Amino acid sequence: MAVEPKGELPLRGEVDIVASRQIVRQLCVELKFSLVDQTKMITAASELSRNTVVHGGGGRMRWEILDEGMRRGLRVAFEDDGPGIPDLSLALTDGWTSGGGMGLGLPGSKRLVHEFDVRSAPGQGTCVTITRWK
Ligand SMILES: Nc1ncnc2c1ncn2[C@@H]1O[C@H](COP(=O)(O)OP(=O)(O)OP(=O)(O)O)[C@@H](O)[C@H]1O
Ligand SMILES: [Mg+2]
Repeated sequence: MAVEPKGELPLRGEVDIVASRQIVRQLCVELKFSLVDQTKMITAASELSRNTVVHGGGGRMRWEILDEGMRRGLRVAFEDDGPGIPDLSLALTDGWTSGGGMGLGLPGSKRLVHEFDVRSAPGQGTCVTITRWK
């Protein structure tokens, strides 16, 4: 199954989280990422998809293969219109969770990618964008 270089997937439940992993894996294969780098990107995408579903009440994943001539990469955004994150630096602290989790999804994802951007405000939803270059 070939995945378009740019696209969007709704994230509503567990099945979509699995689909997001499969799409990111396929994109990493198309970009010829090493197995280790594939795993990094898939793990980050999986955590962020889960946050979108669990904390954001559902949303969408948008992806884009970046081609700058000299370098290629993969950028994936996880967006929702949920409650937002009131304190970003707290949410990015290892082990901090607002409820039953391990509190490692957000800070762990940040360490697995080259670029990490979070936009969120209470009542305004959340958008986390990750990028990994080849
Ligand atoms: N999309 C989101 N919308 C609202 N709050 C979020 C979102 N993503 C993360 N958060 C908040 O940030 C906290 C930290 O997220 P993180 O993924 O690190 O931990 P967790 O989801 O609680 O546990 P886990 O280790 O299982 O992922 C969450 O507990 C939640 O309060
Ligand atoms: Mg999480």
